[in-house]
Amino acid sequence: MPINTRQHAKVREIRFSNPPVNALSIRSGLCREFTAAITAALADTAVESIIVAGEGAIFSGGADIADFEGDPQSLNVFRDLMNGIERASKPIVMAIRGLSLGGGLELALAGHYRVASADAQFGLPEVTLGLLPGGGGTQRLPRLVGARRGLQMMLSGKLIRADAALAAGLIDSVCDGDPVEHALQFIASSKARAVRPTGALAVPADLSEAIAAARKEAVTLASRHILTAAGTALTSDLNSALATEARLFEELKASEPSQALRHVFFGQRLVSRLPAGLEATPKTIDKVSIVGGGLMGTGIAIALLKAGLEVQLVEPRNEAREKAAATVAATLQKDVDKGRLTPTELSKQLQNFATRVRIEEASGADLFIEAVYEDMDVKLEAFRALDRTAAAGAILASNTSALDLNRLAAGISRPQDVVGLHFFSPANIMRLVEIIRGTQTSPETLATAMRFTKRIGKIGVFSGVCDGFIGNRLFEEYLRQAYFLLEEGALPQQVDRALEAWGMAMGPFRTLDLAGGDVGWSVRKRRAREQPDRPYSSIPDRVCELERFGQKTHAGFYLYADGRTAQVDPLIDELVVGESAWLGVVRRSISDAEIVDRCLLALVNEGAKVLAEGIAYRPVDIDIVYVNGYGFSAERGGPMFQGDVRGMASVLQAIRRFATGRHGWAWEPARLIVELADRGGSFASLNG
Ligand code: COA
Repeated sequence: MPINTRQHAKVREIRFSNPPVNALSIRSGLCREFTAAITAALADTAVESIIVAGEGAIFSGGADIADFEGDPQSLNVFRDLMNGIERASKPIVMAIRGLSLGGGLELALAGHYRVASADAQFGLPEVTLGLLPGGGGTQRLPRLVGARRGLQMMLSGKLIRADAALAAGLIDSVCDGDPVEHALQFIASSKARAVRPTGALAVPADLSEAIAAARKEAVTLASRHILTAAGTALTSDLNSALATEARLFEELKASEPSQALRHVFFGQRLVSRLPAGLEATPKTIDKVSIVGGGLMGTGIAIALLKAGLEVQLVEPRNEAREKAAATVAATLQKDVDKGRLTPTELSKQLQNFATRVRIEEASGADLFIEAVYEDMDVKLEAFRALDRTAAAGAILASNTSALDLNRLAAGISRPQDVVGLHFFSPANIMRLVEIIRGTQTSPETLATAMRFTKRIGKIGVFSGVCDGFIGNRLFEEYLRQAYFLLEEGALPQQVDRALEAWGMAMGPFRTLDLAGGDVGWSVRKRRAREQPDRPYSSIPDRVCELERFGQKTHAGFYLYADGRTAQVDPLIDELVVGESAWLGVVRRSISDAEIVDRCLLALVNEGAKVLAEGIAYRPVDIDIVYVNGYGFSAERGGPMFQGDVRGMASVLQAIRRFATGRHGWAWEPARLIVELADRGGSFASLNG
């Protein structure tokens, strides 16, 4: 039952339930039943006051985000619930445990009193979904906690703890035990004798001033609308202000950034699911052995230690092993210096860490992660040693970013236990991990790898085996276009600026300089042998021949005097222009729109091929890879989401147009795009 009631003498307890996060759902009927329970309690002469609580460990994770896709009018059911509670003729006390977020906090605000357990946390995270609090939050929160604190909570989306909430006046009392018991005592001690509607409190005197100050930093549409909605309190009565809030909410809900952010929110959760028929129960991973103490192995070790796992790091070379151990200790120490970790927690993390010389000394782990040199023979040798060392049932993972996992798996006796864990560098910072499934990887191994990535706070996305997996395979096509654009008339800084203005955290040339140009150089040399019919521009090779490998050599496509800040280098402009002349290409003026279209549609087209080949399970998996690993703005939703924003027919038309241009061979339209365009379909319909 979504609503359960209990009578305690003259107090009616109303408990709402919608696992797992008690979302205040309209679709499920919860909001209607909730309203009916409040109405019944108000009509019952045996009831003098009401307690509202959420079932389970949290009060509420908010309005049901899935309701936002439906009829806008239906959200009024949710708003009517809030307004009905506020206008109730009997005192309503909210008893809060755990999280009270978004619509969950708005529900609490609509009550007359709020008591909470000491572990409670409060926040209005709507802005992180490109929305504003649309259930009265923009009106009630500032009245209760003041203009500055209220605006700050709405604009940052950050949570505050119970003690801070008490100090701010958001809640009336904090307890150590059960908040419902506490609410009963609160009522018994006559602290909740009269109704106290939040909306009837005075508008904060400094609201206008606080809005003016905040407006200077409000860059997103959502933050500007939050300020506008909050500001209506200055000129309108509560009802009109709530109507304005609802109208602005609808505008945001329909906006591209909010649709994209909601797509990413659900996508980040969807990617962890194995498709129907492959579901399996994951094993528990507590102890991990990492083979290879280079940059990647060390980064992975740090990430795992921070997540509380036991780690053994195997590195045969003394110097490298000592360097890895020193880096681990120094990086963890930084958390203590910044106050994010206590010295006791640090010593616990360090106790969980040990270095080993040989693989055979690192037995007893539930998971082994190989992070040795990127060479098939070297990796095969490590895998054979793991095969001899690991207990039956242990997972054997490779961190390869380019080699064929199936060959590695075939080289040992237990291919079902082999999986790829493609961490991105620096592994202790980057959230993305591609979980590579070989043809023989068992569903149990995949489910275990996914649970493990979640446990260490990362986002895992499944990918089949292919050159570059999902992320780098698409990126190659993106870069191919970026280089061709240089040959045709653009300069690196224009390409970067256009893509950054559109929504990439970093343009392709700055990204290359950060990653190190030599990595791509070796891949391009391999490609020239493997795919002579798919030529790459020579421009990046020319840059590498000058030993300009990016930030680490203080020069790449840009100059880096301080090793970090990119400065345009006329020498590169000359190199680019010279290359066009050598190729006999007459340089033309290229618009920013063409730069964005070509680079973006290269991702969409290759993404559709990756999908059709079954490398990615779902379109949204590709989006989550790009948002978490390649700096694709979450407000743009990812390449496949963008394909849908443009519409399949328009995507296909542009691809066909590019196919008639220079290097048109690179624009073979993906069959899936042709099919979807024919039947008016979308990538979203394939997310399942
Ligand atoms: N509406 C609908 N579904 C929601 C939801 C919401 N407000 N909040 C969480 N869920 C769903 C998730 O999609 C997930 O579904 P799944 O199991 O089918 O994948 C499930 O609840 C559990 O959520 P998850 O995020 O995996 O659990 P968690 O314990 O890590 O985090 C929260 C819980 C509440 C902190 C987190 O889900 C969250 O931040 N939710 C959004 C809060 C928000 O923005 N509210 C404002 C909306 S107006």
